[in-house]
Order: sequence, then C-alpha cells, then structure tokens
Amino acid sequence: MSNRTPLMAGNWKMNLDWKQGLALVEELGDQLKSVDTDRVEVVVLPPFVDIRTVQTVVEADKLPIGYGSQDISAHESGAYTGEVSGAMLKALGATYTTVGHSERRQYHAETEEVTDAKVKASFDAGLTPILCVGEPLEERQAGKHVEYTLAQLEGGIASLSAEQAKQIVIAYEPVWAIGTGEVATPDDAQEVCAAIRDALRALHGDEVADAVRVLYGGSVKSSNVVELMGKEDVDGALIGGASLKAEEFARIAGFQ
Ligand code: G3P
Repeated sequence: MSNRTPLMAGNWKMNLDWKQGLALVEELGDQLKSVDTDRVEVVVLPPFVDIRTVQTVVEADKLPIGYGSQDISAHESGAYTGEVSGAMLKALGATYTTVGHSERRQYHAETEEVTDAKVKASFDAGLTPILCVGEPLEERQAGKHVEYTLAQLEGGIASLSAEQAKQIVIAYEPVWAIGTGEVATPDDAQEVCAAIRDALRALHGDEVADAVRVLYGGSVKSSNVVELMGKEDVDGALIGGASLKAEEFARIAGFQ
C-alpha cells in the first residue's frame, strides 16, 4: 500500500448544461458525506461553460470536491479563437486539467508535441495536468500496448523538470476500454501503470516515481473499482460515464 492519496476524477466530457451540472455537484456533495474525503481526493472535470457554476456551488457549500477542465490552451493569451487559457482556469479556482485525452488525440489531432506544450502550459498557470495515455485495440492485439503508451508518456513530459514531473498525474486509459463497458482487467491495468512508474523512475528517479499518481480510466464503475484499486500501481481512476451519476461516482470514490 503506497502513501499516495488516491484521486478519483470525473470527466463529464461534453455532457450536462450548467443547470444539470449544478444539480449533479450538489447531489455529489450530499453523497460524499458518507465517504472519508480526507483519504481520497475527488475531482470533477466539467465542460468549460459549467466550471463557473461548479466553482460557485463548491465554494458556497464548502464541498470536498476539486474541479478542473478537460483541456487547456497551449498558449498563454491572445488571438486563439475558441481557446481557454490556463490563467483563465486558474482564476476560476480550477486545480486540474486533463491533457491529451484520447478523444482530443483522435478528433483534434493532438500530437505529442501538442500534449507536451499543454502540460507545460498547465504548470505555467499553476494547474496540475492529468496526462492521458493509452493504446488503441490494434496495438494491444499486437502486444505493443506498453511500448505505445510509454511513447505517449515520454512525449507528453519531454520538457518537464523533476520538480514538475513529481506533481503530474498520469491516467492510463486504453482506448478500447473507454465508453465500451469493456474494462481492462486489474492485471492489465497494473501491468501498464507499473510500466509508467518504471519509466518515470528511469527518467527522474525514485522520488518522482514514488510520488506520481497513476490512474486507470476506461469503464470504471462501483462494481469493478475495488479490484482495480487493489493493484499496487493504480492510484485512482479517471471516470467518464459513471461520474455523471452522483450516487455511483460517490460509491467509486468510496471504493465500495
Ligand atoms: O476520461 C474518462 C474516460 O475516457 C473513460 O470513460 O465512460 O469509459 O468511464 P468511461
């Protein structure tokens, strides 16, 4: 058992308008009363337009819920129509942002160069990046899942100092397990999460490798989270669909 605090992050993706987001966060606050939130960090990642609402509820009700964004601009400010900067997110009280989610890589052509720049932009703004990595089905079937995932990892953290690397969160999300109901087995998750930690050890040493939280993501539910969390190198989860239901997300956060 490591001394890393587990992190359960709910990625709402492009779901819920601000009123629905408000209702979800209020209900989640209620449901979390039965969870020891000193021992697990709970975070929601709403669409940009819902972040202000989440901030208002979390601050007003003093809820034990952190929040962040699903993406961040690689740029600081200026003529980048449609983008949202790290400083804007920070000003809303956000603490996390995901970077390089497979849906961003797939639909928005986010290369390793882009994820590296976005990870850097996150740190520059004082946000913690949750760098998402993971292989598509063909790579797994070809037995190249570890190699593929580590290449994404190394690309995404290429320009970090050891001090920054120590704070990053990595989410291993095999693409074939996302939204499919097909969860990786706990051993599959452990294999790649351990390989990620070993790669961090080789790049930055023991202190960084032992500090970084490595999450698993892909069809996580209350019915499979206990086994996943039983694995040595799995420090939490990045949860999509199941994070849209307060009771279910709270069960996951409580590992029940
Ligand atoms: O980022 C979370 C994610 O991609 C997993 O989604 O719906 O399979 O839990 P889901």
